[in-house]
Amino acid sequence: MSKVISIINLKGGVGKTTITVALAEFLVVVKQYKVLVIDLDPQTNSTVSLIGEDEWEKRNKTNQTLYHLFKDHIDDTCDFNLEKSIIKECSNLYGGLSNLHLLPSSLDFVQIQDRLINIGQTALIRPFDILKRTVSSYINNNYDFVLVDCPPNLGIVTKNGLNISDYYLIPTIPDHLSTYGIPQIISNVNSFNRRTESNVQALGIIASMYRSNVTRHHTTLKTLQTKCAAGELPRLFDTKIPLAAKAADATHYEAEGINTLKQKYGSSGSNLYEAFSLLTEEFCEYVGC
Ligand SMILES: Nc1ncnc2c1ncn2[C@@H]1O[C@H](COP(=O)(O)OP(=O)(O)OP(=O)(O)O)[C@@H](O)[C@H]1O
Ligand SMILES: [Mg+2]
Repeated sequence: MSKVISIINLKGGVGKTTITVALAEFLVVVKQYKVLVIDLDPQTNSTVSLIGEDEWEKRNKTNQTLYHLFKDHIDDTCDFNLEKSIIKECSNLYGGLSNLHLLPSSLDFVQIQDRLINIGQTALIRPFDILKRTVSSYINNNYDFVLVDCPPNLGIVTKNGLNISDYYLIPTIPDHLSTYGIPQIISNVNSFNRRTESNVQALGIIASMYRSNVTRHHTTLKTLQTKCAAGELPRLFDTKIPLAAKAADATHYEAEGINTLKQKYGSSGSNLYEAFSLLTEEFCEYVGC
């Protein structure tokens, strides 16, 4: 059985994709697990980070992205083929990681998101069951972990991710506005659980783009810790992902000189490599691996 984790937040630009991709790479390289990343975000960021733009365009032209899965259900077409769509050697690390697979997204996804809401009125399938029906048994039989990179909202597409998930993770910048919506996310997932008789559990909150010299970050973390201790919020990971220029560089698939995890995430003055190593350890402790 695989463990499936959705990476979610209502807010955009808080590090969801960066954490998804890095965690996937560390789980594969350091822990030697077999991992699938599902890119549910029409922005296609984890797809482009893991395979580059040229490969994405090729896949998009041959109808092998998640957009085509959802489009099949709306337009009654049969273009999507799960096994053909999964890209079996991803990342620019070590010349490609054979145990890091990707179910890619597409920029075209943007065009059909609104139409998904109406699907339940005519089809025999609930709109949030589309992904589950297609991927569930395959992922259970083939992966140790599945990380689902979600768009910055809790709409139907994200609900498809939650519907296959055991856990969800909430990355956040530790400031007031970024953390403001966290209680809303939790109550939204709780009501999804009740409605669908699921049990998607909060794995925790991860502080990202943390700056140790910013007082606001300290005070926000203190507030989060107090609320976690009081049981108002799920656990706050001890590991904080620092703000580091290397994080933005890491999203460039074509970047030259990238081979090892240290080359990708470590450099003098950046402790991103260390932070992702610790995050991986903490993640494994909480999911029990
Ligand atoms: N630790 C970090 N330090 C510096 N920059 C970072 C860090 N993490 C992410 N970034 C940069 O911040 C931007 C947003 O990050 P990312 O794409 O991971 O966020 P996101 O939550 O997935 O955004 P979206 O909601 O748009 O999908 C990107 O340009 C990324 O390179
Ligand atoms: Mg993203």
